[in-house]
Amino acid sequence: MRFYLTTAIDYVNSRPHLGTAYEKITADVIARYKRLVGVETHFLMGNDEHSQNVYQRALERGLDPHAYCDQMEQEFRTVWKQLDISFDDFIRTTEPRHHAAVQKLAQRCFDKGDIYEGQYEGWYCVSCEAFKQEKDLVDGKCALHATLTPEWIREKNYFFRLSRYRDAVLEHFRAHPGFLRPDSRRNEMMRLLEGGLEDISVSRAGQLWGIPLPFATENVVYVWFDALINYAAAVGYATDAARFDQSWPADLHVVGKDITRFHTIVWPAMLMSAGMALPAQVFGHGWVNFGGQRMSKSLGTSLDPSDVAQRFGPDPLRLYLVKEIPYGGDGDFTWERYEERYNVDLANNLGNLVSRLAAMAEQFRGSRLSPAGPGGRLAEVTEAALTRYRASMDALALHDGVAAAFQIVDAANEYIAETAPWTLAKRKADAGRLDEVLFDVAEAVRVAAVLLRPIMPASSAEILRRVGEATAPDRIRLDRDGQWRAEGAREIARGTPLWPRVEETKEIVVEEKPISASVIPAVDTRISIDEFMKVELLVAKVLEAEAVPKSKKLLKLRVDTGTDKRTIVAGIAEAYQPEQLVGRTVVIVANLQPAKLMGVESQGMVLAASPEGGAPTLVGLDETISPGTRVR
Ligand code: MSP
Repeated sequence: MRFYLTTAIDYVNSRPHLGTAYEKITADVIARYKRLVGVETHFLMGNDEHSQNVYQRALERGLDPHAYCDQMEQEFRTVWKQLDISFDDFIRTTEPRHHAAVQKLAQRCFDKGDIYEGQYEGWYCVSCEAFKQEKDLVDGKCALHATLTPEWIREKNYFFRLSRYRDAVLEHFRAHPGFLRPDSRRNEMMRLLEGGLEDISVSRAGQLWGIPLPFATENVVYVWFDALINYAAAVGYATDAARFDQSWPADLHVVGKDITRFHTIVWPAMLMSAGMALPAQVFGHGWVNFGGQRMSKSLGTSLDPSDVAQRFGPDPLRLYLVKEIPYGGDGDFTWERYEERYNVDLANNLGNLVSRLAAMAEQFRGSRLSPAGPGGRLAEVTEAALTRYRASMDALALHDGVAAAFQIVDAANEYIAETAPWTLAKRKADAGRLDEVLFDVAEAVRVAAVLLRPIMPASSAEILRRVGEATAPDRIRLDRDGQWRAEGAREIARGTPLWPRVEETKEIVVEEKPISASVIPAVDTRISIDEFMKVELLVAKVLEAEAVPKSKKLLKLRVDTGTDKRTIVAGIAEAYQPEQLVGRTVVIVANLQPAKLMGVESQGMVLAASPEGGAPTLVGLDETISPGTRVR
């Protein structure tokens, strides 16, 4: 049995942003999970090109719309590749297979008597590509696109008899409680249905960009009626009958909450009219905001997922979006929160565990670990986590699935702290126990990596390699490889830290050193007086101080160095208020190369003592010394 999974197809008037990427990432996690449990999966994505906005954008760029859409396809494919999205097919609505499918389905509905000619008069929001009623507007503007005044249009249109299918669609909801998830959206749609449905326009008159209605070719098909059909077009609805029979209906459409109405009311009605089966399930995921605001290019509240992926690789972002946002609910992305989770979950927790295991295995057992017992407590935790993981992932509670995987990681870290392998290593009598502890930790890491495979595919593959898993990553199967294995010696590989800690200023990435007493280098790290004298330490006076926006730790200082006045960014905001600093004498490194911290250029460094886990304290001078005096 094959699992046919789709996402919404994206408008190509702008590049993917974090919100559209969120949908693709979560759908990819589902696709990869299905493959992990051995289900043959067909994962479809694509681009929605027949939108007026797309046409407009092409004209603005002086391009033929087809050429523009070709360019955008490359941009989208590049971003999806950067995010490691494993789609099997990518459809564009300008493709012949789609054109044929739209005409076929529209003709079917027409032949059935469900499409009729009428007159539309009302509002149209070009950004939503949707007809709006007065009650949908806020102060005359579209509720979703507050900067836009909808157009009043009056045109001859073809209408689809949506009202005719109201009872049947409502009945379908009642008979199939799982048709739309989560339940909050199901309730919302059922209320809409209970309130009754009006017929909808399915054509636009006098437009050049779109697919002509087969029975009235001077009209193009309304972009939504066109777009929904992609799901059937992609599996051969009008071009490959045998394939279509095997593939239809889809098992799951993953779409955003703003478009669940189209997918669970309009689309089922279209399918019923055309005599086709309904998809088994629609999942209406929530909204991802950026810093608490709706993602919008024009408001500058949009985040390019490529930027995140290029800086950190795709996996930390994938993990953040899946783990931090309960699937179905809304969520938020801020750099601060992202970096915090990166440091906690990846640098300190999973990454550190992998590094520690490799260091201890090498130091105490020459990197080769052998089983010494049935597994004990860690095996129990792992088994329970596997059960929770499966149940959660099957129910599309993706956030809970990933939490189950991290349960194993946490337990393994605690186990290391409790069993203290470095102490066991000191006594011959504890050799057997040490074998057991190291093997069990390695095994727990292996199972955690199996569970994390859908969420962090590349990192999971690397961890599996490091813990000596022989099966190729693509062949890993949950049933077999997610079980605790108390047999088989393992070769543990060392490697660079997977996720070096990132400091709050995202410009600085500090290398994390793996923890191991044996790797302290026997190198003389002392420097000569000449080397020290290269560092120009000067007395300086703070003239102005202010907080760096969006940063918890950084202050921007303006200092007088005796010979010039310059800006220095200092990580002391948690210990000092800006006003406490004005007039104060500090010691600076004056000949440091400039560096940008949170977008502000820093021309030097202020010296402060930074106790482990405590607030920084500025280095001070006993006497009043004038700016520019050298410190040595
Ligand atoms: N082209 C239509 C979909 C047609 S499907 C037959 C469309 N395109 S879109 O580009 O505007 O949005 C694509 C998907 O991204 C939609 O499912 C939408 O809900 C989702 N998202 C857009 N912004 C989003 C967030 N900020 N957060 C989460 N998902 C978001 O709608």
